Amino acid sequence: MHLHRRILVTGGAGFLGSSLCDRLLAAGHDVLCVDNFFTGTKDNIAHLLGNPHFELLRHDVTFPLYVEVDEIYNLACPASPIHYQVDPVQTTKTSVHGAINVLGLCKRLKAKILQASTSEIYGDPVVHPQPERYWGNVNPIGPRACYDEGKRCAETLFFSYRQQYRVRIKVARIFNTYGPRMHMNDGRVVSNFIVQALRGEPITLYGDGGQTRSFCYVDDMVHGLVSLMNTEDDFTGPINLGSAGEVTIAGLAETVIALTGSKSKTVHKPLPSDDPRQRRPDIALAREKLGWEPTTTLENGLSKTIAYFEELLRRHPRHVASA
Ligand SMILES: NC(=O)c1ccc[n+]([C@@H]2O[C@H](COP(=O)([O-])OP(=O)(O)OC[C@H]3O[C@@H](n4cnc5c(N)ncnc54)[C@H](O)[C@@H]3O)[C@@H](O)[C@H]2O)c1
Repeated sequence: MHLHRRILVTGGAGFLGSSLCDRLLAAGHDVLCVDNFFTGTKDNIAHLLGNPHFELLRHDVTFPLYVEVDEIYNLACPASPIHYQVDPVQTTKTSVHGAINVLGLCKRLKAKILQASTSEIYGDPVVHPQPERYWGNVNPIGPRACYDEGKRCAETLFFSYRQQYRVRIKVARIFNTYGPRMHMNDGRVVSNFIVQALRGEPITLYGDGGQTRSFCYVDDMVHGLVSLMNTEDDFTGPINLGSAGEVTIAGLAETVIALTGSKSKTVHKPLPSDDPRQRRPDIALAREKLGWEPTTTLENGLSKTIAYFEELLRRHPRHVASA
């Protein structure tokens, strides 16, 4: 028997949020998607608009929201540097005022809430891989600070609301995730490489390409978020969710070229400031508490993502993603 719940997903029209809405509806819940469409798009949720269990509300989470729900997944926040650096003040407000608003709602409703935090709270880590107990190495005034410090403050607020008001919280530290519905030209490496390869353009490597990342496929991530939400109330996290497999950026470029059959060549550009050299989660806690780890191979995940971008480019050949 499954328990039917009314679930609010902030940022529900975004890359991760829209897949989460799909998953929650498929599990038989009612979903309220709240989004201001800063980086999200109606295309991501167009297929859900006729579903009587799905509701869409255009709203900016920096303003209070009064709705009745049982659970909240707080995903609203632009996630890529190109987007979150457009308006750094609004980015911090989205994380901080947004957290205060949704936590206040939870306090009133006695609802349960999950925060989409990020590996960026570890900054440029000096500990590798990063366990949850690592406090991070963040530049508080650098170009990424509006995002990193906003997300760090949001975590603080989540734990303060738990301590002070007994709000039931869950904090997921999400590492690089990719898959269909990613933004096309937002500067994130997977979408960049795929689009460049499909267009036969040079593939841009920042630095020598030896920096490493770990990539988690979207379905695995959504599964992890839902598993976390369903843990006992005494388990709050923070908990790392991501792939423990590490690949070099140059290696990723080669795989994308092979899977697309592209004739693209790689070109090198300088490494942006504050770009971490290495990042990989320690997911021992997720394995232990959620019995979770990603199961999609990089090749399978990339193939599905390539198929998505192929279709998008077929429909919008000159498409250039905007903020
Ligand atoms: N994708 C990743 O690899 C990754 C990694 C770490 C953390 N995260 C976190 O997961 C969440 C979702 O990320 P995503 O990759 O789906 O990004 P996304 O940009 O596709 O989605 C974010 C959504 O939030 C909406 N939004 C932004 N500001 C808002 C506001 N003030 N009010 C209402 N809606 C607002 C956007 O329109 C968009 O639909 C974000 O909080 C992000 O920080 C993502």
